[in-house]
Amino acid sequence: MTETDTSTATTTDGETADVLVVGSGIAGCAAALAAARDGADVLLLTKATKPDDASTDWAQGGISTTRGNPESLKEDIIDASDGTADPDAVDTLVAEADDAVEDVLVDTLEVGFDEADDGAFDYTREAAHSEYRILHVDAATGTHILRPFLNYVDDHERIEVRQDTAALELITAEGRVHGVVSDEESDGHPIYAGATVLATGGVGALYGRSTNPDDATGDGIAMAALAGADVADMEYVQFHPTAYAGDDPFLLSEALRGEGAVLRNGDGEQFMADYHPQGDLAPRDVVARAVETEREETGEVVLDVSPLEFAAEYPAIAEKCRDRGFEGDEIPVAPCEHFLCGGIDVDDRGRTSLDRLYAVGECARTGVHGANRLASTSLLEGLVWGLRAGEDATGFEAEAVEAPELSNRDPTLPERFAAEKFTRLTQTTDEYLGLERDPEEIARASSVLRRLKGEVDAYIRTRTARDLYELRNASVVALLIARAASENTESVGCHYVATDADESVPESPADD
Ligand code: SIN
Repeated sequence: MTETDTSTATTTDGETADVLVVGSGIAGCAAALAAARDGADVLLLTKATKPDDASTDWAQGGISTTRGNPESLKEDIIDASDGTADPDAVDTLVAEADDAVEDVLVDTLEVGFDEADDGAFDYTREAAHSEYRILHVDAATGTHILRPFLNYVDDHERIEVRQDTAALELITAEGRVHGVVSDEESDGHPIYAGATVLATGGVGALYGRSTNPDDATGDGIAMAALAGADVADMEYVQFHPTAYAGDDPFLLSEALRGEGAVLRNGDGEQFMADYHPQGDLAPRDVVARAVETEREETGEVVLDVSPLEFAAEYPAIAEKCRDRGFEGDEIPVAPCEHFLCGGIDVDDRGRTSLDRLYAVGECARTGVHGANRLASTSLLEGLVWGLRAGEDATGFEAEAVEAPELSNRDPTLPERFAAEKFTRLTQTTDEYLGLERDPEEIARASSVLRRLKGEVDAYIRTRTARDLYELRNASVVALLIARAASENTESVGCHYVATDADESVPESPADD
């Protein structure tokens, strides 16, 4: 990826922080906490204006622990990934999982995880887990973790949280990252840092239907890639098998199936046993493709929650159903973009290929998830890598090098420009970079996306609007997904390459 020509001048005016964290989900909060505990002054920048602007707040099922059996969790992670997860990265995760959960979530934040009648934690199970080992707060776990975490970091004397602020570009010099240019001034505001930690989350906004908040435009991945950082595994976009099939989709947690809910096709039949020996609890990629196939063949797929005390045990999900006017035990479901398993390539401390740039959480590729992530390991990975990276990022001094000064020569942005381009982008990803891919369609996606990025770059040369940068970021990341998908001809995990490719790829509105 070549660097975008956005800088018309440079400046060294700006402010400094020891550690700059970009993003306010569990990974960003953990990095900020660890750096502050280590004595660093931390600035946490976030586009968010409220907790549910971060994907963490949307996480339902829970956070996995090992319950004292790291080998068993490791085995499940590697099996779910189709054998592609990096065993060393998984070792790091499982070795630190229980201590990190206990230290930060239980002792520091006092998260009220659900308990059984005897007062012990009530562990639940999700697909492809061989044991009950997931801590949860009904099925709204992310909210119950993130809100106290945000309050805690906000109250911390060494951490400043700055909301409604976007990082637009990284400041780089000779292979080292020195901070970011934020959108606090119309021509960009430089913030210099000893180390910069990207924790900007996923890419849900690149797809028409996603379980992520709208803000998930892949900002950190795009900024890092444009600055020359390595990215990896970008083709592994995970689709959750059970999102609400109607308008305004939302997640129906795998914990529902873990506790007894079953999938049925349009003929009322349970079908998952025909696709995988683990049936309804098969790995997520397998279930997502099976649900799509059954929807095509029988008209619909429903999640039958009648074996559960659904409304009583899962009030937050039941409320979402009611909000959309749905009452009943057979909830229509369809796959929906959920999580990017790849991202900015990092090591076991969250270090990227660029000096003093770290990445944690969904924007990072640690190797833990390989080609398909096991349920309830994303909060855990964000927590463990956030802590490791935050600690490693301390001890460097901020240096005010020349920063790109962004151009705001033309303050007008045609009102519908970003919305129209986003529509073209999501049509392209939905159609060509979804659950099932075909080499010709991937090539078509690349050409549509290249044109789109060119149009956006032309605007960015004279304007600094945040939504323009989000669109630039989304188009960069979509191109990275297309490129990775085209380079990987093997079907594995979330990346499924159709073998019976139709010779003539139909024209689509995305080409207009
Ligand atoms: C779910 O609750 O099904 C999602 C959990 C996850 O993505 O890890």
